[in-house]
Amino acid sequence: MARVKAIYRCEACEAEAPQWAGRCPACGEWNSLTEASTRPRRAVPVTASDQPQPLSEVDATDGAARPTGIGELDRVLSGGLVPGSVTLLGGEPGIGKSTLLLQAAASQAAAGACVLYVSAEESKQQVRLRAERLGLLSPSVWLVSEVALPNVVAHIDQVRPDVVVIDSIQAVFDPEVSSAAGSMTQVRDCAHRLVQESKQRSIATVLVGHVTKDGGLAGPRVLEHVVDTVLAFEGDRHHALRLLRAAKHRFGSTNELGLFEMGEAGLVGVPDPSGLFLADRREGVPGSVIVPTMEGHRPLLVELQSLVTATKLPAPRRSGQGLDSGRLALLVAVLAERVGLKLADFDVYALAVGGVRVTEPGADLAIALAVVSARSNVAVPADLVACGEIGLGGELRQVAQTGRRLAEAARLGFRQAIVPASAPDGPPGIELVRVRDLPQAINYLFG
Ligand code: TYD
Ligand code: MG
Repeated sequence: MARVKAIYRCEACEAEAPQWAGRCPACGEWNSLTEASTRPRRAVPVTASDQPQPLSEVDATDGAARPTGIGELDRVLSGGLVPGSVTLLGGEPGIGKSTLLLQAAASQAAAGACVLYVSAEESKQQVRLRAERLGLLSPSVWLVSEVALPNVVAHIDQVRPDVVVIDSIQAVFDPEVSSAAGSMTQVRDCAHRLVQESKQRSIATVLVGHVTKDGGLAGPRVLEHVVDTVLAFEGDRHHALRLLRAAKHRFGSTNELGLFEMGEAGLVGVPDPSGLFLADRREGVPGSVIVPTMEGHRPLLVELQSLVTATKLPAPRRSGQGLDSGRLALLVAVLAERVGLKLADFDVYALAVGGVRVTEPGADLAIALAVVSARSNVAVPADLVACGEIGLGGELRQVAQTGRRLAEAARLGFRQAIVPASAPDGPPGIELVRVRDLPQAINYLFG
Protein backbone atom coordinates (compact mmCIF):
# COMPACT_ATOMS: atom_id res chain seq x y z
CA MET A 1 0.00 0.00 0.00
CA ALA A 2 1.34 3.42 -0.89
CA ARG A 3 2.16 5.58 2.09
CA VAL A 4 0.62 9.05 2.09
CA LYS A 5 3.48 11.48 2.19
CA ALA A 6 3.27 14.11 4.89
CA ILE A 7 3.26 17.69 3.72
CA TYR A 8 4.71 20.40 5.88
CA ARG A 9 3.37 23.92 5.86
CA CYS A 10 4.96 27.12 7.07
CA GLU A 11 2.87 28.95 9.63
CA ALA A 12 4.30 32.27 8.64
CA CYS A 13 3.96 32.24 4.87
CA GLU A 14 1.78 29.14 4.18
CA ALA A 15 4.40 27.71 1.80
CA GLU A 16 4.40 23.91 1.57
CA ALA A 17 7.46 21.70 1.79
CA PRO A 18 7.76 17.95 1.15
CA GLN A 19 9.97 17.45 4.20
CA TRP A 20 10.56 19.10 7.52
CA ALA A 21 13.32 21.67 7.89
CA GLY A 22 14.38 23.93 10.74
CA ARG A 23 13.90 26.95 8.55
CA CYS A 24 11.21 27.64 5.99
CA PRO A 25 12.83 27.50 2.53
CA ALA A 26 10.34 30.09 1.24
CA CYS A 27 10.33 32.88 3.82
CA GLY A 28 13.31 32.02 6.01
CA GLU A 29 11.30 31.90 9.25
CA TRP A 30 12.82 29.57 11.86
CA ASN A 31 10.91 26.64 13.27
CA SER A 32 7.71 27.47 11.46
CA LEU A 33 7.08 24.23 9.51
CA THR A 34 4.34 22.01 10.90
CA GLU A 35 2.95 18.80 9.48
CA ALA A 36 -0.11 19.95 7.56
CA SER A 37 -2.07 16.74 8.06
CA THR A 38 -1.69 16.87 11.83
CA ARG A 39 -3.29 20.26 12.14
CA PRO A 40 -6.72 19.73 13.70
CA ARG A 41 -9.52 20.77 11.42
CA ARG A 42 -12.49 22.13 13.22
CA ALA A 43 -15.83 21.00 11.89
CA VAL A 44 -17.86 24.01 10.89
CA PRO A 45 -21.20 23.81 12.68
CA VAL A 46 -24.03 23.66 10.19
CA THR A 47 -26.92 25.94 11.00
CA ALA A 48 -30.16 26.22 9.10
CA SER A 49 -30.37 29.86 10.06
CA ASP A 50 -30.96 31.16 6.56
CA GLN A 51 -33.48 30.37 3.85
CA PRO A 52 -33.52 31.53 0.23
CA GLN A 53 -35.82 34.49 -0.24
CA PRO A 54 -36.85 36.68 -3.19
CA LEU A 55 -34.29 39.49 -3.40
CA SER A 56 -37.04 42.10 -3.33
CA GLU A 57 -38.35 40.78 -0.01
CA VAL A 58 -35.06 40.80 1.87
CA ASP A 59 -35.31 43.23 4.79
CA ALA A 60 -32.51 45.73 4.33
CA THR A 61 -33.00 47.34 7.73
CA ASP A 62 -32.18 44.03 9.38
CA GLY A 63 -28.45 44.63 9.29
CA ALA A 64 -28.51 48.41 9.66
CA ALA A 65 -25.39 50.00 11.06
CA ARG A 66 -25.51 51.11 14.67
CA PRO A 67 -23.64 54.36 15.40
CA THR A 68 -20.72 54.05 17.78
CA GLY A 69 -21.30 57.62 18.89
CA ILE A 70 -17.73 58.57 17.94
CA GLY A 71 -18.38 60.85 14.96
CA GLU A 72 -15.11 60.35 13.11
CA LEU A 73 -15.30 56.56 13.58
CA ASP A 74 -18.89 56.49 12.31
CA ARG A 75 -17.84 58.53 9.28
CA VAL A 76 -15.26 55.90 8.29
CA LEU A 77 -17.70 53.06 9.06
CA SER A 78 -20.39 54.71 6.87
CA GLY A 79 -22.69 55.04 9.87
CA GLY A 80 -21.53 52.62 12.53
CA LEU A 81 -21.01 48.96 13.37
CA VAL A 82 -23.26 46.42 11.65
CA PRO A 83 -24.67 43.62 13.86
CA GLY A 84 -23.17 40.28 12.87
CA SER A 85 -20.14 41.91 11.27
CA VAL A 86 -16.49 41.72 12.20
CA THR A 87 -14.18 44.73 12.01
CA LEU A 88 -10.42 44.57 12.26
CA LEU A 89 -8.73 47.67 13.69
CA GLY A 90 -5.05 47.62 12.76
CA GLY A 91 -2.33 49.98 13.87
CA GLU A 92 1.12 50.17 15.38
CA PRO A 93 1.47 49.60 19.12
CA GLY A 94 0.82 52.79 21.08
CA ILE A 95 -1.10 54.56 18.33
CA GLY A 96 -4.35 54.60 20.38
CA LYS A 97 -6.39 51.55 19.35
CA SER A 98 -7.34 50.59 22.90
CA THR A 99 -8.19 54.19 23.71
CA LEU A 100 -10.42 54.55 20.65
CA LEU A 101 -12.28 51.32 21.35
CA LEU A 102 -12.72 52.06 25.03
CA GLN A 103 -14.24 55.42 24.10
CA ALA A 104 -16.45 53.75 21.48
CA ALA A 105 -17.48 51.06 23.99
CA ALA A 106 -18.51 53.66 26.56
CA SER A 107 -20.47 55.75 24.10
CA GLN A 108 -22.30 52.72 22.73
CA ALA A 109 -23.10 51.60 26.24
CA ALA A 110 -24.45 55.07 26.95
CA ALA A 111 -26.72 54.63 23.91
CA GLY A 112 -28.13 51.44 25.39
CA ALA A 113 -25.92 48.71 23.91
CA CYS A 114 -24.38 45.95 25.98
CA VAL A 115 -20.63 45.88 25.32
CA LEU A 116 -18.14 43.17 26.27
CA TYR A 117 -14.52 44.35 26.28
CA VAL A 118 -12.10 41.43 26.24
CA SER A 119 -8.67 42.66 27.21
CA ALA A 120 -6.16 40.01 26.23
CA GLU A 121 -3.11 42.19 26.79
CA GLU A 122 -3.81 44.44 29.74
CA SER A 123 -5.17 43.58 33.16
CA LYS A 124 -8.65 44.70 34.19
CA GLN A 125 -7.02 47.17 36.57
CA GLN A 126 -5.04 48.79 33.76
CA VAL A 127 -8.14 49.17 31.62
CA ARG A 128 -10.12 50.53 34.55
CA LEU A 129 -7.43 53.10 35.32
CA ARG A 130 -7.48 54.28 31.73
CA ALA A 131 -11.30 54.44 31.73
CA GLU A 132 -11.21 56.38 35.00
CA ARG A 133 -8.74 58.87 33.60
CA LEU A 134 -10.93 59.37 30.54
CA GLY A 135 -14.10 59.65 32.62
CA LEU A 136 -15.59 56.56 30.97
CA LEU A 137 -16.54 54.35 33.89
CA SER A 138 -19.70 52.82 32.48
CA PRO A 139 -21.62 50.03 34.24
CA SER A 140 -22.85 48.74 30.85
CA VAL A 141 -19.35 47.96 29.60
CA TRP A 142 -18.42 44.47 30.70
CA LEU A 143 -14.73 43.94 31.12
CA VAL A 144 -12.81 40.69 31.23
CA SER A 145 -9.10 39.95 31.00
CA GLU A 146 -8.89 36.73 29.03
CA VAL A 147 -6.65 35.07 26.46
CA ALA A 148 -8.14 31.60 25.92
CA LEU A 149 -10.65 31.49 23.09
CA PRO A 150 -13.07 28.95 24.64
CA ASN A 151 -13.32 31.18 27.72
CA VAL A 152 -13.93 34.22 25.53
CA VAL A 153 -16.81 32.39 23.87
CA ALA A 154 -18.14 31.36 27.28
CA HIS A 155 -18.07 35.00 28.40
CA ILE A 156 -19.99 35.97 25.27
CA ASP A 157 -22.52 33.27 26.16
CA GLN A 158 -22.88 34.65 29.64
CA VAL A 159 -22.99 38.40 28.91
CA ARG A 160 -24.94 38.21 25.59
CA PRO A 161 -23.49 41.48 24.35
CA ASP A 162 -24.42 43.52 21.28
CA VAL A 163 -20.82 44.52 20.76
CA VAL A 164 -17.61 42.61 21.53
CA VAL A 165 -14.12 44.11 21.48
CA ILE A 166 -11.15 41.72 21.38
CA ASP A 167 -7.96 43.58 22.30
CA SER A 168 -5.95 42.09 20.64
CA ILE A 169 -6.56 39.12 18.33
CA GLN A 170 -2.84 38.30 18.38
CA ALA A 171 -2.95 37.74 22.14
CA VAL A 172 -5.89 35.32 22.01
CA PHE A 173 -5.17 31.63 21.56
CA ASP A 174 -7.07 28.42 21.18
CA PRO A 175 -5.58 25.55 23.25
CA GLU A 176 -6.97 23.06 20.71
CA VAL A 177 -4.69 24.45 18.04
CA SER A 178 -1.19 23.12 18.49
CA SER A 179 0.81 26.16 17.36
CA ALA A 180 2.04 29.02 19.51
CA ALA A 181 -0.07 32.03 20.50
CA GLY A 182 0.30 34.84 17.99
CA SER A 183 1.22 32.45 15.17
CA MET A 184 -0.55 32.72 11.86
CA THR A 185 -2.53 29.53 12.42
CA GLN A 186 -3.69 30.65 15.85
CA VAL A 187 -4.68 34.13 14.77
CA ARG A 188 -6.57 32.85 11.74
CA ASP A 189 -8.37 30.04 13.56
CA CYS A 190 -9.36 32.30 16.46
CA ALA A 191 -10.62 34.97 14.06
CA HIS A 192 -12.62 32.37 12.11
CA ARG A 193 -14.28 31.20 15.29
CA LEU A 194 -15.13 34.74 16.37
CA VAL A 195 -16.56 35.50 12.91
CA GLN A 196 -18.84 32.46 13.26
CA GLU A 197 -19.93 33.53 16.73
CA SER A 198 -20.69 37.08 15.57
CA LYS A 199 -22.74 35.92 12.60
CA GLN A 200 -24.74 33.41 14.63
CA ARG A 201 -25.49 35.82 17.45
CA SER A 202 -25.69 39.06 15.43
CA ILE A 203 -22.93 40.61 17.48
CA ALA A 204 -20.80 43.42 16.12
CA THR A 205 -17.24 42.35 16.85
CA VAL A 206 -14.14 44.51 16.70
CA LEU A 207 -10.74 42.81 16.63
CA VAL A 208 -7.62 44.80 17.43
CA GLY A 209 -4.61 43.78 15.34
CA HIS A 210 -1.08 45.02 15.86
CA VAL A 211 0.68 46.04 12.73
CA THR A 212 4.38 45.53 12.19
CA LYS A 213 6.64 48.37 11.12
CA ASP A 214 6.55 47.45 7.43
CA GLY A 215 2.78 47.93 7.48
CA GLY A 216 1.77 44.25 7.43
CA LEU A 217 -0.59 43.01 10.09
CA ALA A 218 1.77 40.82 12.13
CA GLY A 219 1.22 37.42 10.58
CA PRO A 220 -2.27 37.65 9.26
CA ARG A 221 -2.84 39.16 5.88
CA VAL A 222 -5.30 36.26 5.79
CA LEU A 223 -7.45 38.04 8.37
CA GLU A 224 -8.37 40.66 5.82
CA HIS A 225 -10.37 38.07 3.89
CA VAL A 226 -12.08 36.75 6.98
CA VAL A 227 -13.46 40.04 8.30
CA ASP A 228 -16.01 42.44 6.81
CA THR A 229 -14.14 45.64 7.50
CA VAL A 230 -10.48 46.49 7.86
CA LEU A 231 -9.64 49.81 9.50
CA ALA A 232 -6.15 51.25 9.65
CA PHE A 233 -5.28 53.63 12.46
CA GLU A 234 -2.23 55.66 11.55
CA GLY A 235 -0.30 58.66 12.66
CA ASP A 236 3.09 59.99 13.41
CA ARG A 237 4.18 59.29 16.98
CA HIS A 238 5.53 62.82 17.16
CA HIS A 239 2.26 64.42 16.16
CA ALA A 240 -1.01 64.32 18.08
CA LEU A 241 -2.89 63.72 14.82
CA ARG A 242 -4.34 60.27 14.16
CA LEU A 243 -5.86 59.17 10.87
CA LEU A 244 -8.42 56.42 10.52
CA ARG A 245 -9.15 54.85 7.14
CA ALA A 246 -11.02 51.83 5.86
CA ALA A 247 -8.86 49.54 3.73
CA LYS A 248 -11.86 47.27 3.13
CA HIS A 249 -15.50 47.84 3.96
CA ARG A 250 -18.38 45.56 2.98
CA PHE A 251 -21.01 48.06 4.12
CA GLY A 252 -19.89 51.28 2.52
CA SER A 253 -17.20 53.40 0.97
CA THR A 254 -13.50 53.02 1.72
CA ASN A 255 -12.90 56.65 0.81
CA GLU A 256 -13.61 58.33 4.09
CA LEU A 257 -10.95 59.64 6.40
CA GLY A 258 -11.46 60.03 10.14
CA LEU A 259 -9.27 62.49 12.01
CA PHE A 260 -8.49 62.56 15.71
CA GLU A 261 -6.16 64.34 18.04
CA MET A 262 -4.65 62.39 20.93
CA GLY A 263 -4.64 64.51 24.04
CA GLU A 264 -5.08 64.42 27.79
CA ALA A 265 -8.72 63.44 27.43
CA GLY A 266 -8.04 60.66 24.94
CA LEU A 267 -8.96 60.92 21.27
CA VAL A 268 -10.93 63.94 20.17
CA GLY A 269 -12.42 64.22 16.69
CA VAL A 270 -11.11 67.00 14.47
CA PRO A 271 -14.10 68.62 12.79
CA ASP A 272 -12.11 71.30 10.95
CA PRO A 273 -8.92 69.58 9.78
CA SER A 274 -7.94 72.28 7.28
CA GLY A 275 -7.88 74.84 10.08
CA LEU A 276 -5.70 72.47 12.12
CA PHE A 277 -3.22 71.86 9.31
CA LEU A 278 -2.81 75.55 8.59
CA ALA A 279 -2.75 76.71 12.23
CA ASP A 280 1.04 77.02 12.56
CA ARG A 281 1.71 78.27 9.07
CA ARG A 282 4.19 81.12 8.62
CA GLU A 283 3.27 83.32 5.72
CA GLY A 284 5.73 84.75 3.23
CA VAL A 285 8.22 81.87 3.44
CA PRO A 286 9.63 80.80 0.06
CA GLY A 287 8.94 77.16 -0.84
CA SER A 288 5.48 76.99 0.71
CA VAL A 289 2.29 76.44 -1.32
CA ILE A 290 -1.18 75.43 -0.12
CA VAL A 291 -3.00 72.66 -1.96
CA PRO A 292 -6.71 71.93 -1.60
CA THR A 293 -6.64 68.15 -1.63
CA MET A 294 -9.45 65.59 -1.20
CA GLU A 295 -9.53 62.90 1.46
CA GLY A 296 -12.55 60.80 0.61
CA HIS A 297 -15.48 63.13 0.43
CA ARG A 298 -13.75 65.73 2.50
CA PRO A 299 -11.69 68.62 1.15
CA LEU A 300 -8.53 69.26 3.11
CA LEU A 301 -6.14 72.18 2.80
CA VAL A 302 -2.54 71.15 3.30
CA GLU A 303 0.66 73.15 3.21
CA LEU A 304 3.36 71.71 0.95
CA GLN A 305 6.92 72.86 1.53
CA SER A 306 10.04 72.48 -0.50
CA LEU A 307 13.70 73.10 0.17
CA VAL A 308 16.30 73.21 -2.61
CA THR A 309 19.95 73.04 -1.57
CA ALA A 310 23.18 72.88 -3.56
CA THR A 311 24.78 69.45 -3.61
CA LYS A 312 27.90 67.74 -4.91
CA LEU A 313 26.23 64.34 -4.99
CA PRO A 314 26.47 62.66 -8.40
CA ALA A 315 22.84 61.60 -8.01
CA PRO A 316 21.14 64.51 -6.21
CA ARG A 317 18.43 63.71 -3.69
CA ARG A 318 14.72 63.95 -4.46
CA SER A 319 13.10 63.23 -1.16
CA GLY A 320 9.40 63.52 -0.31
CA GLN A 321 7.88 63.20 3.15
CA GLY A 322 4.16 62.65 3.17
CA LEU A 323 4.55 62.89 -0.61
CA ASP A 324 5.57 60.35 -3.21
CA SER A 325 9.31 60.73 -3.85
CA GLY A 326 8.92 59.18 -7.32
CA ARG A 327 6.34 61.81 -8.22
CA LEU A 328 8.65 64.52 -6.91
CA ALA A 329 11.49 63.26 -9.13
CA LEU A 330 9.11 63.24 -12.10
CA LEU A 331 8.02 66.81 -11.45
CA VAL A 332 11.66 67.91 -11.13
CA ALA A 333 12.29 66.30 -14.54
CA VAL A 334 9.29 68.13 -16.04
CA LEU A 335 10.60 71.41 -14.57
CA ALA A 336 13.99 70.77 -16.22
CA GLU A 337 12.66 69.84 -19.65
CA ARG A 338 9.54 72.03 -20.03
CA VAL A 339 10.48 75.08 -17.99
CA GLY A 340 14.25 74.97 -18.25
CA LEU A 341 14.75 74.97 -14.47
CA LYS A 342 17.90 72.88 -14.07
CA LEU A 343 18.21 71.23 -10.68
CA ALA A 344 21.01 68.76 -11.44
CA ASP A 345 23.29 70.37 -8.84
CA PHE A 346 20.61 70.61 -6.17
CA ASP A 347 18.99 68.29 -3.66
CA VAL A 348 15.22 68.77 -3.67
CA TYR A 349 13.19 68.05 -0.54
CA ALA A 350 9.44 68.37 -0.26
CA LEU A 351 7.02 67.59 2.52
CA ALA A 352 3.36 67.73 3.46
CA VAL A 353 3.04 69.55 6.77
CA GLY A 354 1.18 68.05 9.73
CA GLY A 355 1.73 64.32 9.31
CA VAL A 356 -0.73 63.74 6.45
CA ARG A 357 0.09 61.90 3.24
CA VAL A 358 -0.80 63.68 0.02
CA THR A 359 -0.37 61.24 -2.82
CA GLU A 360 -3.01 62.34 -5.32
CA PRO A 361 -1.96 63.88 -8.66
CA GLY A 362 -4.02 67.00 -7.82
CA ALA A 363 -1.05 68.08 -5.68
CA ASP A 364 1.37 68.13 -8.67
CA LEU A 365 0.99 71.82 -9.40
CA ALA A 366 1.47 72.86 -5.77
CA ILE A 367 4.57 70.67 -5.42
CA ALA A 368 6.12 72.05 -8.62
CA LEU A 369 5.37 75.65 -7.61
CA ALA A 370 6.83 75.02 -4.12
CA VAL A 371 10.06 73.78 -5.73
CA VAL A 372 10.26 76.81 -8.03
CA SER A 373 9.49 79.13 -5.12
CA ALA A 374 12.22 77.50 -3.00
CA ARG A 375 14.79 77.63 -5.80
CA SER A 376 14.06 81.27 -6.70
CA ASN A 377 13.67 82.28 -3.05
CA VAL A 378 10.43 84.10 -3.86
CA ALA A 379 7.38 83.40 -1.71
CA VAL A 380 3.97 82.90 -3.33
CA PRO A 381 1.09 85.11 -2.07
CA ALA A 382 -0.21 83.95 1.30
CA ASP A 383 -3.83 83.89 0.09
CA LEU A 384 -3.16 81.60 -2.87
CA VAL A 385 -3.87 77.90 -3.43
CA ALA A 386 -2.87 75.75 -6.42
CA CYS A 387 -4.39 72.57 -7.68
CA GLY A 388 -4.00 70.43 -10.80
CA GLU A 389 -2.29 67.39 -12.28
CA ILE A 390 0.82 67.94 -14.40
CA GLY A 391 1.43 65.83 -17.52
CA LEU A 392 4.87 64.95 -18.88
CA GLY A 393 4.48 67.71 -21.47
CA GLY A 394 4.06 70.24 -18.67
CA GLU A 395 0.34 70.58 -19.45
CA LEU A 396 -2.17 70.96 -16.63
CA ARG A 397 -5.16 68.70 -16.13
CA GLN A 398 -8.18 69.11 -13.98
CA VAL A 399 -8.74 66.78 -11.05
CA ALA A 400 -11.98 65.50 -9.54
CA GLN A 401 -14.09 67.70 -7.26
CA THR A 402 -12.33 70.97 -8.10
CA GLY A 403 -15.47 72.85 -7.02
CA ARG A 404 -15.48 71.39 -3.51
CA ARG A 405 -11.78 72.03 -3.13
CA LEU A 406 -12.17 75.68 -4.07
CA ALA A 407 -15.16 76.11 -1.78
CA GLU A 408 -13.05 74.89 1.16
CA ALA A 409 -10.23 77.27 0.17
CA ALA A 410 -12.69 80.18 -0.01
CA ARG A 411 -14.13 79.23 3.38
CA LEU A 412 -10.68 79.47 4.95
CA GLY A 413 -10.04 82.89 3.49
CA PHE A 414 -7.99 82.14 0.39
CA ARG A 415 -8.59 84.64 -2.42
CA GLN A 416 -6.73 83.26 -5.46
CA ALA A 417 -6.49 79.81 -6.98
CA ILE A 418 -4.27 78.67 -9.82
CA VAL A 419 -6.21 76.00 -11.67
CA PRO A 420 -6.17 74.24 -15.06
CA ALA A 421 -7.86 76.13 -17.89
CA SER A 422 -10.75 73.66 -18.01
CA ALA A 423 -11.67 74.02 -14.33
CA PRO A 424 -15.29 74.86 -13.50
CA ASP A 425 -16.17 78.26 -12.05
CA GLY A 426 -15.26 78.69 -8.43
CA PRO A 427 -17.34 79.92 -5.51
CA PRO A 428 -17.69 83.65 -4.88
CA GLY A 429 -14.82 85.31 -3.08
CA ILE A 430 -12.01 83.42 -4.79
CA GLU A 431 -10.43 84.54 -8.05
CA LEU A 432 -9.47 81.77 -10.46
CA VAL A 433 -6.24 82.08 -12.40
CA ARG A 434 -6.68 79.66 -15.29
CA VAL A 435 -3.49 78.33 -16.84
CA ARG A 436 -2.89 75.82 -19.64
CA ASP A 437 0.50 74.58 -18.54
CA LEU A 438 3.23 74.80 -15.92
CA PRO A 439 5.24 77.57 -17.67
CA GLN A 440 2.12 79.80 -17.64
CA ALA A 441 1.59 79.19 -13.92
CA ILE A 442 5.26 79.95 -13.17
CA ASN A 443 5.13 83.04 -15.35
CA TYR A 444 2.08 84.32 -13.48
CA LEU A 445 3.71 83.89 -10.07
CA PHE A 446 7.37 84.56 -10.63
CA GLY A 447 7.42 86.66 -13.84
P1 TYD B 1 -3.26 52.95 23.46
O1 TYD B 1 -4.70 53.17 23.23
O2 TYD B 1 -2.87 52.10 24.60
O3 TYD B 1 -2.55 52.38 22.14
P2 TYD B 1 -2.64 50.92 21.45
O4 TYD B 1 -3.79 50.21 22.04
O5 TYD B 1 -2.81 51.23 19.98
O6 TYD B 1 -1.34 50.25 21.69
O7 TYD B 1 -2.61 54.40 23.54
C1 TYD B 1 -1.33 54.49 23.95
C2 TYD B 1 -0.77 55.86 23.89
O8 TYD B 1 -1.70 56.91 23.91
C3 TYD B 1 0.08 56.02 25.11
O9 TYD B 1 1.39 56.28 24.66
C4 TYD B 1 -0.46 57.16 25.86
C5 TYD B 1 -1.33 57.88 24.90
N1 TYD B 1 -2.54 58.42 25.52
C6 TYD B 1 -2.72 59.79 25.60
O10 TYD B 1 -1.88 60.57 25.16
N2 TYD B 1 -3.85 60.29 26.17
C7 TYD B 1 -4.82 59.48 26.69
O11 TYD B 1 -5.83 59.99 27.19
C8 TYD B 1 -4.62 58.07 26.60
C9 TYD B 1 -5.63 57.11 27.16
C10 TYD B 1 -3.49 57.58 26.02
MG1 MG C 1 -3.71 48.48 23.25
